[in-house]
Amino acid sequence: MSPEYQHYVEGEWVDGDGTETFDSENPATGETLGTFRRGTEADVERAVAAAEDAAEAWRGLSYIDRAEYLWEIYHELRDRHEELGEIVTKECGKEISEGKADVTEAWHMVEWAAGDARHPHGDVVPSEIPAKDAYMRRKPRGVVGCITPWNFPVAIPFWHMAVSLVEGNTVVWKPAEQTPWCGQVIAEMFDDTGIPDGVFNMVQGFGDAGNAIVEDDRVDTVLFTGSAEVGQQIASKVGGEPGKLAACEMGGKNGIVITENADLDVAVHSAVMSSFKTTGQRCVSSERLIVHTDVYDEFKRRFVEVAESVAVGDPLDPDTFMGPLIEADHVEKVTGYNDLARREDVNVLVDRTELDDDEIPDGHEDGHWVGPFVYEADAHAPLRCTHEEVFGPHVALLEYDGDIEEAVGIHNDTDYGLAGAVISEDYRQINHYRDNAEVGLAYGNLPCIGAEVQLPFGGVKKSGNGYPSAREVIEAVTERTAWTLNNSKEIEMAQGLSADIKTGED
Ligand code: UN1
Repeated sequence: MSPEYQHYVEGEWVDGDGTETFDSENPATGETLGTFRRGTEADVERAVAAAEDAAEAWRGLSYIDRAEYLWEIYHELRDRHEELGEIVTKECGKEISEGKADVTEAWHMVEWAAGDARHPHGDVVPSEIPAKDAYMRRKPRGVVGCITPWNFPVAIPFWHMAVSLVEGNTVVWKPAEQTPWCGQVIAEMFDDTGIPDGVFNMVQGFGDAGNAIVEDDRVDTVLFTGSAEVGQQIASKVGGEPGKLAACEMGGKNGIVITENADLDVAVHSAVMSSFKTTGQRCVSSERLIVHTDVYDEFKRRFVEVAESVAVGDPLDPDTFMGPLIEADHVEKVTGYNDLARREDVNVLVDRTELDDDEIPDGHEDGHWVGPFVYEADAHAPLRCTHEEVFGPHVALLEYDGDIEEAVGIHNDTDYGLAGAVISEDYRQINHYRDNAEVGLAYGNLPCIGAEVQLPFGGVKKSGNGYPSAREVIEAVTERTAWTLNNSKEIEMAQGLSADIKTGED
C-alpha cells in the first residue's frame, strides 16, 4: 500500500486532526498517484497559529538571509527539472513541454523574488522642507494564506509564496485538491532548506480548508488564484474585514482580434496556441476569435483544419499537443457547454467532444478526454456560450465587419478582462487595441498565453484585481510606511503651516 502523505505544519509532517483521505488521480489514465490526508478547519487553525508564532523571528531576518532559503529551492527546481516536469504532467495532464515549463516558470519566480532581496526597496521622496528626509518603507503584513489552482501546480504556488516569504511574511498554503502530489514535493523542498519551523506550512485539502484560511482573523492577506466564483466569494468576505486584504486572480473569456490586416500565418498560429494549449485550461486561454469578414473564410478554413487534426493524447508523449482535461467533473462541464452551444443554435464546425476509440492511446481508456469544439456564432448575440468561461477547448469564431473600434467593442463585451491579443500588420489598429481592450494582459501578434513572471499578471473586471505575480504581489503582502525624519532642531512644517506655538501671553 502506498503511504498516506501528510500535512506540513510547524516544521513537522503531521496527520492532522481529520480521519479522511483523498487520492490524486492521473487524468490521462485514471491511475491513483497517491493518497493524502484531508485537512480540516482544526488543521488550518494549527497551521495559522504556527505561522503567527514564527512571524516575529522571520521578519527579524534580513531580506538577504530570508532569500537564501529560496535560492536552495531555485537550485533544486533546476536540478530536478525533468523529474518534476513529469510529475506535473502525470498529475495535471498538461503535455510534457508544458509540465516542464511549469517548473521553469516556478524557478523564474523564485529567482525574481530571491534576486529582488538585493535590490533597493522603497523610494527616497523629496520634501518641501530641506531638513526633512522622507522615505517609503515596507513592512511585511504578517501571515499570508495562499490558495492555488491545479493548472499550474508548481509555478503558481511560487508566484504566491516566493515574494511573500522574502518580504518577511510567513505562509499557510493549501494546494489544489487535484494536485496534492505537486504540493507534497514543494513542501519537501521547503523542509530540505531547513527554513525555520512555522514559516512555511502546508495543509492539503478541499474548499473547506481553503475557507478556514480565508476566515481566520490572524491571516492578514489571502492570495487566491482560481475560479471567478470562489474568488468573488473570497474578495467579498475579506473586503468586509478591516485591515485584511485579498488579492485574487480569476478566469477569463479571452478574445483575439484578427483584423483585415492580419498576417494569417501569425493569426492561425496564435489562435491555435491560445485556444488549445493546456487543453484550453489556462485562465488566459482564448475561447473567442473575433475575425474580420475580409479574412474570415480563409482564417476559418485554416483554423478548422488544425482543430480537426491537432494531436490529443498521452501527455507524456512529446508528439502530443493536447492532454486530457483535469477530471471527470470537468469533462461534464465542458461537454455541457458544448451541448449548450448547440442549443443556442450556433454553427458547429468541429466537434471532437468525444474522441474516436482509435484516438485514445492504449492504457488511457479511463482518461478524461475531450477534443476541440469549434463553432461560429453571431458576434452580437447575448449567448451564454460566447460569454461564460468554459475552461476547455471550446472556441467561438465571431465574424465582424467594420473598423477596429467595432472589433474591440465585441472583444470587450464580456464580464471578464484577463488576457487578449490583436493580430494586425497595421500599427494604428494595434495601438487602438492596446489603448482600449479591457484586459490586464494584452499582446500584439502573439498568442494571449505565456506571460513571463516579471510582468504583472492579473486582470480587470470579473477577472480579478491584478496582484498575484512578481512586483505586484509585494503590494499585497506588505504595508507601506511613509517615514519622515527631521535633521534639524527646528520644527518646520510643509504647506506653509505655522509651527509657532502661541499662548495667551503672546
Ligand atoms: C493561468 O492562466 O492559469 O501566462 C496561468 C501564462 C502563464 C500563466 C498562466 N505564464 O500563460
